[in-house]
Amino acid sequence: MGSPRVKGNTQLLLEEAMRGASEQGAQITFFELNSMKIRGCQDCGGCAKSGVCVKKDDMEQIYPVIRQCSRFILASPIFFVGVSAQAKAMIDRCQCFWYEKYILKRPIAQGPYGRAGLFLSVGGMGGIEGKNCSEATARAFFRTISVPEHQTLGYLGVDAKGDILKQPQALKEAYEAGRKLLDMPGGKKEQGGRL
Ligand SMILES: Cc1cc2nc3c(=O)[nH]c(=O)nc-3n(C[C@H](O)[C@H](O)[C@H](O)COP(=O)(O)O)c2cc1C
Repeated sequence: MGSPRVKGNTQLLLEEAMRGASEQGAQITFFELNSMKIRGCQDCGGCAKSGVCVKKDDMEQIYPVIRQCSRFILASPIFFVGVSAQAKAMIDRCQCFWYEKYILKRPIAQGPYGRAGLFLSVGGMGGIEGKNCSEATARAFFRTISVPEHQTLGYLGVDAKGDILKQPQALKEAYEAGRKLLDMPGGKKEQGGRL
């Protein structure tokens, strides 16, 4: 969860998706990125030969989860036409997976359930640009962590805290997407996938 606003629009939407997934039997690990100490990627090259990040901070909690889980939900508000800094710092720190997959040719194994994703975004304004830019980042993130397929739900014109509650359809769609996430045929397609 990439929003700094606790129980804000992003979290409300995400909770509906998690409720749907949980009702389908998912066991969920939730990260509130804003409360974690995650520095941006230093481009030090420390992961280039091993695929393992050498920086020690709260990303150490996230790396094993990215390797082990089979379904992923990235949820972020649109900030300055992209994902939030909290979400982007975590994504940039996945550069180690980029090296591992694209340079060392060792994508994360798909496992018995495959790997699939859901991207949730909310923006206060009406323009489509932020939605498109966030989607491009989310796509690069998912492909880098060897998630070959994802669904995106983006809602614009959602600004004040709790505004998303005025769009019951959005909450319903998030809930349904969470339910369906477990059925997504992740991993059946070619797992390379361009960024
Ligand atoms: C720093 C900042 C930058 C923002 N930039 C954008 C933007 O570029 N486009 C947009 O549609 N909304 C923008 N917003 C509005 C938020 O996306 C909106 O308020 C959203 O509902 C916040 O979600 P949250 O309640 O989960 O934090 C911005 C808000 C902040 C605080």
